[in-house]
Amino acid sequence: LYIGIDLGTSAVKLLLMDAQGSIQKIVSREYPLYFPHPGWSEQNPEDWYEQTIEGIRELLAGTDKEQVAGISFGGQMHGLIILDEKDQVIRPAILWNDGRSIKECEYLNGVIGMEKLTGYTANIAFAGFTAPKLLWVKENEPENFQKISKIMLPKDYLAYRLTGVFCTDVSDASGMLLFDVKNRCWSKEMEEICGIREAQLARVYESYECVGTITNKIAETLGLPRSVIVAAGAGDNAAAAVGTGTVGDGMCNISLGTSGTIFISSKNFGVDAHNGLHSFAHADGHYHLMGCMLSAASCNKWWMDDILQTADYQAEQDKIPALGRNHVFFLPYLMGERSPHNDPNARGTFIGMTMDTTRSDMTQAVLEGVAFALRDSLEIAKDLGIHMERTKICGGGARSPLWRQMIANILNLKVDLIEVEEGPAYGGAILAAVANKEFESVEEAAKKLIRITATIEPDPETVDLYEERYQKFRRIYPGLKEIFK
Ligand code: XUL
Repeated sequence: LYIGIDLGTSAVKLLLMDAQGSIQKIVSREYPLYFPHPGWSEQNPEDWYEQTIEGIRELLAGTDKEQVAGISFGGQMHGLIILDEKDQVIRPAILWNDGRSIKECEYLNGVIGMEKLTGYTANIAFAGFTAPKLLWVKENEPENFQKISKIMLPKDYLAYRLTGVFCTDVSDASGMLLFDVKNRCWSKEMEEICGIREAQLARVYESYECVGTITNKIAETLGLPRSVIVAAGAGDNAAAAVGTGTVGDGMCNISLGTSGTIFISSKNFGVDAHNGLHSFAHADGHYHLMGCMLSAASCNKWWMDDILQTADYQAEQDKIPALGRNHVFFLPYLMGERSPHNDPNARGTFIGMTMDTTRSDMTQAVLEGVAFALRDSLEIAKDLGIHMERTKICGGGARSPLWRQMIANILNLKVDLIEVEEGPAYGGAILAAVANKEFESVEEAAKKLIRITATIEPDPETVDLYEERYQKFRRIYPGLKEIFK
């Protein structure tokens, strides 16, 4: 048996998979997310650890624990966790959707220069990436910066607590802006720019490599055999790509979670010359390009939970009339935006209401706005000469049939649905199985395990209606950009 752990932003999701890839059980445990200032986003690493341990207990209740052979992860990317020399967490983790490092990004992109950064790491600086946040700590909390002994990413903190091994993997390391993606090693230049030493960074593994076994203490706490291996795992998007079979060349996966991503796998290394898409290492041993929007399913959650104050998302979506004819637009930039605008100051906006605008027009606009914003990243991929006909889809938002159909129509892509929808957790379990030699490679595992169950076809008439609306959507942000500043 293999345990896949998806360390998400709203909850940790744990999944138990057998060696044939069948899912035995799934559990999920939530933890708080803090917004101490507008645009800031933090979590407490101890919460992740506690809920993961409780989650493993719940997952394994009633199971023969001797059968557990391996554990691995998909984890929220980019988060900065700093530990002192006694391994105490110095300050709360600064997350992937935190926009505080505006000045540091201006310094990195403007003074060091985008060309140099891309040469060193394959990427430019985005607020939310780890290195700009490290510079923010250096500038604003020098006493904390002085104390840093280890710099970690969220899932690597869990691996450290489970194994005692200070490790990371190539896909997650890629999002730190400290990593030379092409050559899969730390960038000396970036270490120097950030004023850190290589000893403060983890040893880097391929995602499917074993980093060690669980400690005696963890084995005792959980009643697991001491021989349980832990594989390095991957950033949640690369893990989701593994879990949806988006490996090898030219495959696409869309994730509709708290963030929204469009992930394109590639056997070859490549950089987006427009700097809209991230160029990262993939968990299958190769590379990928990715567009990431900061608020995707979270826009709908905000609209339903906080504004409409309803728990019945389905009932709200059932009231939406025919797609493609809405007159309201929504910009989904509730936490600023990463791809493609790279603008932490961008904000959410409704536009185009009239006296007859209804609640469901606005609900529809929220769902459409997220899909239009994903299309922005797809357009960049098209500009790079990448042409896709189809995509997989995963994440909480992907459970809505209406939203899936909207994505198919707005992006004009066939959307393949797969049997197991638990992207990152399933990917994590698969990586553990590969590390334990159940499969020869990640690609072989994906080929054997991932089955497409249905395909959503774009509807040509609605595609045309949405094309017109998309062309209007893309003109709204440039018009408002100055106002958001
Ligand atoms: C990717 C990104 C998000 C987080 C969400 O670059 O920032 O998708 O990984 O957990």
